[in-house]
Amino acid sequence: MKIHRKFLRLLSASLTLCLTAVVAYAQAGVTKDSFGKTSTGEEIDIYTLRNSNGLETQITNYGAIVVSLKAPDRNGKFDDIVLGFSDLDSYLKPHPYFGAIVGRYGNRIAKGRFTLDGVEYKLAVNNGENHLHGGIKGFDKVVWTGRGLMTRTGPAVVLTYVSKDGEEGYPGNLRVRVTYTLTAKNELRIDYSATTDKNTVINLTNHSYFNLLGEGNGDILNHRVRIGANRFLPTGASSIPTGELRRVIGTPFDFLNFTPIGKRIDQDYEQLKFGNGYDHTWVINGRPGVLRFAAAAYEAFTGRLLEVWTTEPGMQFYTGNFLDGTVTGKSGRPYPRRSGFCFETQHYPNSPNQPSFPTTTLRRGATYRSTTIYKFRNRASTQSGETEFPKP
Ligand code: BGC
Repeated sequence: MKIHRKFLRLLSASLTLCLTAVVAYAQAGVTKDSFGKTSTGEEIDIYTLRNSNGLETQITNYGAIVVSLKAPDRNGKFDDIVLGFSDLDSYLKPHPYFGAIVGRYGNRIAKGRFTLDGVEYKLAVNNGENHLHGGIKGFDKVVWTGRGLMTRTGPAVVLTYVSKDGEEGYPGNLRVRVTYTLTAKNELRIDYSATTDKNTVINLTNHSYFNLLGEGNGDILNHRVRIGANRFLPTGASSIPTGELRRVIGTPFDFLNFTPIGKRIDQDYEQLKFGNGYDHTWVINGRPGVLRFAAAAYEAFTGRLLEVWTTEPGMQFYTGNFLDGTVTGKSGRPYPRRSGFCFETQHYPNSPNQPSFPTTTLRRGATYRSTTIYKFRNRASTQSGETEFPKP
């Protein structure tokens, strides 16, 4: 009798569990809505991806931009933790690459020039004397072709774009594909691929600004960051790497252990002056091409923890030093200096002019591939001992 009752209880518990799983699974999905029109009348869409845990992200085919990302805090309260706007018109005006895919070349190419196969190419110059984030009209300002779908790992949106030979000065017709997938493991996974019909250079990344307190909720200086890198790339005054790979030990660039962003950001260290704070590439430990831990950020008040994994050799850690409060975000609040940070996984800036850096050349017939995962966790308590963080 006793066994019988126990069995019934077990059966009912597993049934409830199954039902919950089915209901939760049923909630995962992707929907497409209109996001408005560009000034030339092109229809723009916005895709909403939702996973079985309620994590939600919105992505538009204008600039392949991550418009919003709602993640839970330790109490299960969801907040939008990326900076951005709620309407297309704001994205059509100048803004500092909020959430966008930057390309054809993320970050700087010195003087907008490089030589490939004996030919010198002149790119659009849009950052002092340098080329930044693909030029005047980079991939963040073009209309991509979008398709929402359910994959085995979760809801996804596939975005494709053909960048014409000569666009912003780059050689080769480049076919680019970016797939955003929201997995059941609370990851926003980004898979990039590209092919070209003429040798070219490529360096794609995502330019989301995170604030784990929720966008518009102040600065990010109390977030604690860990970066899996023994070395970083010092730059000159115009943020072009010198070619040196400098050890982080003993410098304000040592994030091997969780350290508040604000702790050393204003120290009297030349590299911090050049960057106006952190705006540098860290050389991620381990083998490029292999998906491995790159960085993590933890915000103690909300318990939110963001982890980044990548196949890229480097990561630009940019602390929103040029935000100045003139831009008002989606909740009507301004974005002051250092109110968001970027973890831009990428090859090193100016690689086409630095033969010692890992190559960014994409040859005709070859396929460029890159993967980055942003994983969202939350911690149950406010304990802050470094050792309690999940080890990658
Ligand atoms: C660069 C910064 C630049 C910012 C643009 C970052 O990736 O490293 O120097 O100001 O993008 O918003």
